[in-house]
Amino acid sequence: MGMQVCTNDNRELVVHIDRVYQEVRSEGRLPKANGGWSSIEPVGLAHDACRKLSALAHREVELIMGKRPDRRESPSIRIVEVGFAMGMSTLAMMRGVLGAGVALEHIEHTAIDPYAGSSWGYAGRLLMQRCGLQDAVTVIEEDSAVALPAMLSDGAAQSIDLIFIDGGHRFEEVFLDLTFASRLIAPGRLVIVDDIWMPSVCKAIRYFERNGLARVALDTQAGGSLALLRFVDAPSRDWDAFKDF
Ligand SMILES: C[S@@+](CC[C@H](N)C(=O)[O-])C[C@H]1O[C@@H](n2cnc3c(N)ncnc32)[C@H](O)[C@@H]1O
Repeated sequence: MGMQVCTNDNRELVVHIDRVYQEVRSEGRLPKANGGWSSIEPVGLAHDACRKLSALAHREVELIMGKRPDRRESPSIRIVEVGFAMGMSTLAMMRGVLGAGVALEHIEHTAIDPYAGSSWGYAGRLLMQRCGLQDAVTVIEEDSAVALPAMLSDGAAQSIDLIFIDGGHRFEEVFLDLTFASRLIAPGRLVIVDDIWMPSVCKAIRYFERNGLARVALDTQAGGSLALLRFVDAPSRDWDAFKDF
């Protein structure tokens, strides 16, 4: 991806990730765990989108760390991603967060995808290993409608620093992902949604915007297709509050 110059202890790792990323882009495919190959397109995030996601993660984490003057007290950055596929977006975010200077052992990236093995032959897991990121990235092979509420039950409410949603693209899947994301995300932090060119995705986002639950910015420059959501505190909503969307 290579859009930021890394000036911290992660330099070697970031250079390695950039090298692997370039190799993968030029090959256009990734090895599967049990032999054979998985093509990264059209499922994996395109190059421009990877660059953008990486830059957004970098900027957001710099903001977060800037608000934590004593990093020793809460050094970890917790990221949740819905839709791991072969790990291209994971790699982009990890690149951004490492580029911002967060130590690898302080990154907890949880990626959810029920088909990481059955559809993509664990190519994403191999990619994480190839980049030396396997200890920081946990892949949960479950439907996000099961995995996200389980995280809430485990006490993760309002604790996640950054969420990326690129999983099931039907309206109800995106709506559920956003609903759980609104509860998992730490106050004021960023939730990014891909593929806003899809009516199902747009409509789901519009509910939260129209009902005053999130501030939304769209990033469609240079072929981008991302929505950036910041959920807001809405403590005094009527029990039947609803604005059509
Ligand atoms: C567009 S791909 C994600 C691409 C990935 N973000 C990348 O850049 O490489 C969508 C992924 O969502 C996964 N998916 C589909 N339904 C899902 C669900 N209910 N929960 C989580 N992931 C789901 C699919 O298996 C697929 O890998």
